[in-house]
Amino acid sequence: MSDRNPYGIDVSTANVARIYDYMLGGKDNFAADRAAAGQILKAFPESREGVQLNREFLGNAVRHLAAEEGIRQFVDIGAGLPTQKNVHQVAHETDPAARTVYVDNDPVVCVHGRALLAGAPTVAMVEGDLRAPEDVWAKAAETGLIDREEPVAVLMVAILHFLDDPYTEVAKVREMLAPGSFLVITHLSMAERRAKDTDTVKGVYSRANSGVVPRTVDEIKHFFGDFELLDNTTFISPGALERMAILGWGGVGRKR
Ligand SMILES: C[S@@+](CC[C@H](N)C(=O)[O-])C[C@H]1O[C@@H](n2cnc3c(N)ncnc32)[C@H](O)[C@@H]1O
Repeated sequence: MSDRNPYGIDVSTANVARIYDYMLGGKDNFAADRAAAGQILKAFPESREGVQLNREFLGNAVRHLAAEEGIRQFVDIGAGLPTQKNVHQVAHETDPAARTVYVDNDPVVCVHGRALLAGAPTVAMVEGDLRAPEDVWAKAAETGLIDREEPVAVLMVAILHFLDDPYTEVAKVREMLAPGSFLVITHLSMAERRAKDTDTVKGVYSRANSGVVPRTVDEIKHFFGDFELLDNTTFISPGALERMAILGWGGVGRKR
């Protein structure tokens, strides 16, 4: 039986957002999340650096898109619990009028997000599920912050590996974007030489609120469809990319 606290949060089942929060040094996690993270760290001690590099990739990609590509609207799907250097904060370094809509399907993540963003006129948090892309897109537009006729950067950072087969949904999102838009993806990759450790991690997530599906770099690139991939080294150091490659791969693609 699950163990629910007075706020209705199931604290006995490890939760992907809270495992990640713990790995990043956050405080929004419970014993089950810390135990799951401990098992992942035992199999892949590099995971802690991996999540930091994932955040570095996200921050650098957003900075590049705002400063060099003129993007002023961001939709961050699978936003996670608020941490440091969130998308809107990075975008605001370039333009305080840049708009960000955060989307997550975890109601607790949404409560935290709304608390953090209360009163911020250029930022919103909506509850939505990437498996229903039209609904996510409609909700993002309903905030009044996203003009669907203008280029937008959609982030799917460390989310797609929680979904079994999201190719159709991601293709739908690509279709809905205006030309000149961008898609930012990071994803857990297959570690061929670490098959046993990867199985351990899969086992940990199978007991959490979501399983995990690591993919090959080619399978991850397939999410970009016919988008033109940017050269990652224009916004993140080759050294950081090399270290990130131990656990995952990321890319930024432009819709022509
Ligand atoms: C590991 S966190 C990543 C947070 C942030 N994007 C980052 O990379 O720092 C993954 C987030 O994706 C969310 N998520 C998982 N499946 C989702 C879905 N189908 N739709 C929307 N959000 C989802 C989880 O609730 C969690 O908050």
